Amino acid sequence: MGTLNNRKVAVIGCGFVGAASAFAIMESGLFSEMVLIDMNHDKAEGEALDISHGLPFSKPMQIYAGDYKDISDAAVIVVTAGAGQKPGETRLDLVKKNVSIFKSIIPQISEVNKDAIMLIVANPVDILTYTAWKLSGYPENRVFGSGTTLDTARLKYLLGQHLDVDSRSVHAFIVGEHGDSEIAVWSSANVSGIPINRFCEMRGHFHHEEAMQRIAEDVKNSAYEIINKKGATYYGIAMSVRRILEAIIRDEKTILPISSIQHDNHGVSGIAFSMPAIVGKNGVEATVPISLSQEEEKALKESASTLQKVIDDVF
Ligand SMILES: NC(=O)c1ccc[n+]([C@@H]2O[C@H](COP(=O)([O-])OP(=O)(O)OC[C@H]3O[C@@H](n4cnc5c(N)ncnc54)[C@H](O)[C@@H]3O)[C@@H](O)[C@H]2O)c1
Repeated sequence: MGTLNNRKVAVIGCGFVGAASAFAIMESGLFSEMVLIDMNHDKAEGEALDISHGLPFSKPMQIYAGDYKDISDAAVIVVTAGAGQKPGETRLDLVKKNVSIFKSIIPQISEVNKDAIMLIVANPVDILTYTAWKLSGYPENRVFGSGTTLDTARLKYLLGQHLDVDSRSVHAFIVGEHGDSEIAVWSSANVSGIPINRFCEMRGHFHHEEAMQRIAEDVKNSAYEIINKKGATYYGIAMSVRRILEAIIRDEKTILPISSIQHDNHGVSGIAFSMPAIVGKNGVEATVPISLSQEEEKALKESASTLQKVIDDVF
């Protein structure tokens, strides 16, 4: 194993999510080399060509379809390979198919590269993050999932719309499973330091319970709605991937709700799910001990036990 090239990224799986992520990565200007891998090599080649044709409008970089030997020096490896949800399927329904795909992919990665940061995106992302950690032998800080980064973006977007304010001024998290048991942490949600309910009142909204329930449900059901309407979701996750990579490559120490192996976090240990964490050049540098209301804490434990059951079933 040689030294890593901090300007090199690999994307494994070039379906909707991999291709959209690769496009967002190209536009970010963060890297000078990107390898695309897919079991359908033509698909990876087609995407590499198509995305490369945007380079005269972006920043120069090498983009090509490759094989596992090409990723030995990649600083970050993004894994999107796996089946997506079909209309009516939950993320947890994908477990068996995608764990078996990971059993083929992850050992091929760790055989050539033991030093990268591995970002898991395929679903169910929490179970697959745990799977990738187990199969890769990577330390916990260097294998983590996009988790609820996308769900949190959806929450911020919807709150921004509701309150007619820039979604970047909204500070709120979705934690737990990236899936049906996820939790919106309302107890600490705020807009630029102003507690969410007070900000709502400033903007003429007074039915807090009703609005919180509706918005949390809309976040949770976003993927189902998009999949019903267009078959897959990919632009939102592509921007989430780009944001996570930016935090890593620029060593930003940004707090993002990524999915990582937990250690006595609100009593949860040994599974991967999302809690806000500091993300920088070493991957997950620390989990942030976010405070939760009693109700949120109870829901978090339920979310953890849903995931633990799946892990017990699979491993
Ligand atoms: N984490 C998130 O927030 C999030 C958001 C959207 C989608 N997803 C997930 O991302 C995954 C991909 O979704 P998609 O819409 O791109 O699916 P897709 O079917 O369009 O693409 C999957 C790709 O993986 C490839 N592939 C399958 N097995 C492989 C293997 N062994 N080696 C290499 N490549 C392989 C396929 O050839 C295909 O190109 C799904 O699991 C989906 O649920 C996650």
